[in-house]
Amino acid sequence: MTDAQIVGVGMTDFGVHERPLPELFADAAFEAFDDAGVDGPDVDAFYFGNAMGGQTEDDTHLAPTLASHVGMAGIPCQRYEDACATSSNAFKHAVRAVEAGQHDVVLVGGVERCTPATGLETPAMTSVFATAAHRQYEQPTGLTFPGVFALLTKRHMHDHGTTEEDLAAVAVKNHRHGTMNPRAQFGKETTVEEVLEGPIVADPFHLMDCCPFSDGAAAAVVTSEEAAASLSGTPVGVAGVGHATDVVPIADKAELTATQSARDAAAQAYAEAGITADDVDVVELHDCFTGAEVLAVEALGLVDDGEGGTAAAEGWTALGGEIPVNPSGGLKAKGHPIGATGVAQLVELTEQLRGEAGDRQVDDATHALAHNLGGDAATTVVSVLEVIA
Ligand code: COA
Repeated sequence: MTDAQIVGVGMTDFGVHERPLPELFADAAFEAFDDAGVDGPDVDAFYFGNAMGGQTEDDTHLAPTLASHVGMAGIPCQRYEDACATSSNAFKHAVRAVEAGQHDVVLVGGVERCTPATGLETPAMTSVFATAAHRQYEQPTGLTFPGVFALLTKRHMHDHGTTEEDLAAVAVKNHRHGTMNPRAQFGKETTVEEVLEGPIVADPFHLMDCCPFSDGAAAAVVTSEEAAASLSGTPVGVAGVGHATDVVPIADKAELTATQSARDAAAQAYAEAGITADDVDVVELHDCFTGAEVLAVEALGLVDDGEGGTAAAEGWTALGGEIPVNPSGGLKAKGHPIGATGVAQLVELTEQLRGEAGDRQVDDATHALAHNLGGDAATTVVSVLEVIA
């Protein structure tokens, strides 16, 4: 077994892109190549994520198309679909292939377009996203993804006294972080009052409690330790990866607020990395809705159960706080182009561990954690990255 390392990263701005998927993805891939010090012909395999291209772009066999477009034609390519956890699942498999000695240099990435630039306005795209809910038991009820997370969050409010102000504090924090990220979709601050005055999308979520629809791409070059030594990119170690699923539909979950797949994936990742939650210095987690961040900080063991709302409201999870969460702005402010999100989290954390994160840098970070969730908390991938001593 060899250790896997990330030696190069790249991503586009998240927002609205009026460009075909291959062109959009190429921007992220070429940035990652330059950062790593590789060219297309140096790459042995391509692990790639796109969740909804069949429904949104009439494009279902993307991996070899993208590989050809960035100069890697002929190598083995595999596409992953795992709802919002799509590209972190691709990352997990790339890491395992490198660790097993199957490949030395792998390109991992994701691309997605979800804004009206696809021709699909908010109601139509909401219906596309809802296809990740249970086909027989949830879709016929009209349940949307804001609705899914509203159900989980309402239960947390009932059980723990979490308030709408606590939820709004997550949006305020992540929008503030987003102002320090030039690639973020939203570079403007908000306030608790502004969040609470916004229109209701799915009670308790107002518009500003929700992530936006986004277009974008992200890429990372993952290599063996030996291959990294011959490349110019500054490597970051992959210390552990966990991947778990939970029962669907929602009605069958043992405990609505537990997000059990996150707990199981985190336990695996911490064990593989040989660390505990206390050792984590910076986190990128799946805040598709403010309530999702509240549940995730608890599931990852960063705070005690019931304290997820307090964590944002009291500034524990802000830059400068005890455990900074979503310094990139998170899905809430940076944006959420489904298939790109998992790798984009790893781009941010690689830059954090290298000390390249500019105004949003977390000082002296040695361990970083990414939490990427798919469906109704049905799938979670947790990855731990570390500074190489
Ligand atoms: N956060 C902050 N601002 C947002 C926003 C968001 N999520 N969504 C839209 N805006 C802003 C727009 O920039 C626009 O601002 P402007 O008037 O200054 O130009 C304004 O709000 C209205 O935008 P519009 O696109 O008309 O909003 P919409 O009502 O069509 O969609 C949501 C808003 C929240 C309903 C939509 O973004 C949404 O459904 N998000 C959730 C996506 C989702 O479910 N993802 C999967 C997660 S698992």
